[in-house]
Amino acid sequence: MKRVLLSTLVAALPVVAMAADAEHVVEARKGYFSLVAIEFGPLAAMAKGEMPYDAAAAKAHAADLVALTKYDPSDLYAPGTSADDVKGTRAKAAIWTDMEAYKGKGMAFFEAIAALEPAAGAGQKELAAAVGKVGGTCKGCHDDFRAKD
Ligand code: HEC
Repeated sequence: MKRVLLSTLVAALPVVAMAADAEHVVEARKGYFSLVAIEFGPLAAMAKGEMPYDAAAAKAHAADLVALTKYDPSDLYAPGTSADDVKGTRAKAAIWTDMEAYKGKGMAFFEAIAALEPAAGAGQKELAAAVGKVGGTCKGCHDDFRAKD
């Protein structure tokens, strides 16, 4: 029984096991940033007073952002997946030619998220200050490494 199950599984595997093609890498990369944005959006709205401050919700969004910083994104930066190589992405080729600088922007983002976590539930003012810092790291990276629409 086990053997039958296993062979069925193996037969279904090749599609998954193949190296991801550029299109899928781009899709996943954009998906990652969509997740970041969907968690950050309500926090930014609370920071600006566009949404009532809710400590529990703010903590939950911040925790999800922390979870996203634990994901190792290196697979999302496979070579040959820049805007110079494929359509449908705004990732500048500079990411690959200046990977150290890109990683530095990523580190600044991770650090701002780490500081956001305790601030999120501490009050609207505290949240707003931490959100401002995180937002600065989004912009800091986009300015250099994301092409305009
Ligand atoms: C280390 C660099 C970096 C940081 C930090 C960063 N981004 Fe991005 N972001 C990118 C790049 C590069 C792209 C383009 C991805 C692509 O098109 O392949 C992108 C794309 C996006 C997109 C578009 C996704 C899509 O579907 O096309 C959104 C939304 C976004 N980022 C939001 C954010 C927010 C919000 C933050 C901060 C909370 C943030 N990003 C932080 C580099 C960064």
